[in-house]
Amino acid sequence: MKKIKLVLSVGIILLFLSFNIKEGNPFYIPENWPKPFYNFEDNQLTRDKFELGRTLFYDETLSRDSTISCASCHLQYSGFTHIDHALSHGIDGEIGNRNSPVLINLAWNSFFHWDGGVNNLDKQAINPLIHPKEMGNNLPEVIRRLNNSKFYKKRFLSAFGDSVISTSNLLHALSNFTLALVSANSKYDLMKRGVAGSEFTDQEKSGYQLFLKNCNSCHTEPLFHSNAFKRNGLKIDEELKDIGRMAITQRKSDSMLFKVPTLRNIEFSFPYMHDGRFNKLKEVVDHYSSIPAHQLIVSKELKKIKKPFTDQQKKDLIAFLKTLSDKQFLYNKDFMFQRNER
Ligand code: HEC
Ligand code: HEC
Repeated sequence: MKKIKLVLSVGIILLFLSFNIKEGNPFYIPENWPKPFYNFEDNQLTRDKFELGRTLFYDETLSRDSTISCASCHLQYSGFTHIDHALSHGIDGEIGNRNSPVLINLAWNSFFHWDGGVNNLDKQAINPLIHPKEMGNNLPEVIRRLNNSKFYKKRFLSAFGDSVISTSNLLHALSNFTLALVSANSKYDLMKRGVAGSEFTDQEKSGYQLFLKNCNSCHTEPLFHSNAFKRNGLKIDEELKDIGRMAITQRKSDSMLFKVPTLRNIEFSFPYMHDGRFNKLKEVVDHYSSIPAHQLIVSKELKKIKKPFTDQQKKDLIAFLKTLSDKQFLYNKDFMFQRNER
């Protein structure tokens, strides 16, 4: 009798555990996509590290006065950027110099920031943590706070097997979260996979053709960026005087080169460009359309635009751009702040 009871209770415990076993780290490589650039050997992805990274991403106590978290400037429903202002807002109401980029499919980038000033995702997070206009903290203080927290000591122990929290493990946890932000389930993706009901309308088809002809050489499918720096004809903002890539390389030829951003979830990630100068996709398309008329200085790929787009073409292009919206990604519960984790 005792034996049966034991077997039964072990069985029940196992059953309970199997319902509670969490899935792995949500990062994956979508079918037919190129190989990612990120070196996964340096930072093995696990569920525990992902969840810890998520907690840290939403934690304001990482900033000097505990008011700003990564999510303050990178909101999920807009593709992990901010939408209510052109330039990022940080600690003490400080306004930064640039529009925060989306955080999407980061494993397929080999450099970061609009000017490529950072070339390693694992190091990137140091910038916002210590930037005087972002989180305004310093690394020793961040690490001291984490090591004073019983909650975090437990979480780091379970994720990294070490309860003494190091900068390296903090950064690896954060990149476990940001790497997992894979968006590959837009209407465009479903259409490509031949999923029933995802066929393009005539307008979307015509927009796609225009896109392939005029835009794809830089915003290259399926990632819709090309891991490159280009000049897309924007005039320099006289106040910000942001010269892009040249600030990093000091080469004159790199003046006004900016990282080609992905166009995934572009419908929701306004305002647009490195300084958030455009609020609407219509303004963006008008800009590209005005290149021939204004003879703007642009990278060679844009010289293919020989005459302005017609109003119909502009509408078609925008209809196509909206097929890149991925609601599964924008509302994925796994990426949201988890109330029960604090
Ligand atoms: C005050 C606003 C703000 C906060 C807070 C902030 N960021 Fe950012 N983030 C930005 C801006 C602005 C950029 C672009 C910087 C540039 O181009 O010089 C950026 C760029 C990035 C990038 C590079 C994306 C790319 O494709 O180039 C990553 C990754 C990132 N942030 C992650 C984080 C993480 C992780 C945190 C928290 C530790 C964080 N950010 C906190 C505003 C912010
Ligand atoms: C020569 C390469 C190139 C071509 C071709 C090109 N773009 Fe861009 N695009 C860029 C660069 C570089 C940026 C960022 C510029 C900046 O912020 O200063 C950009 C930015 C954008 C943005 C804003 C993205 C954001 O997150 O802020 C949109 C939208 C966009 N392009 C759409 C298009 C469309 C539509 C076409 C075709 C009509 C096109 N692009 C053709 C290089 C290109």
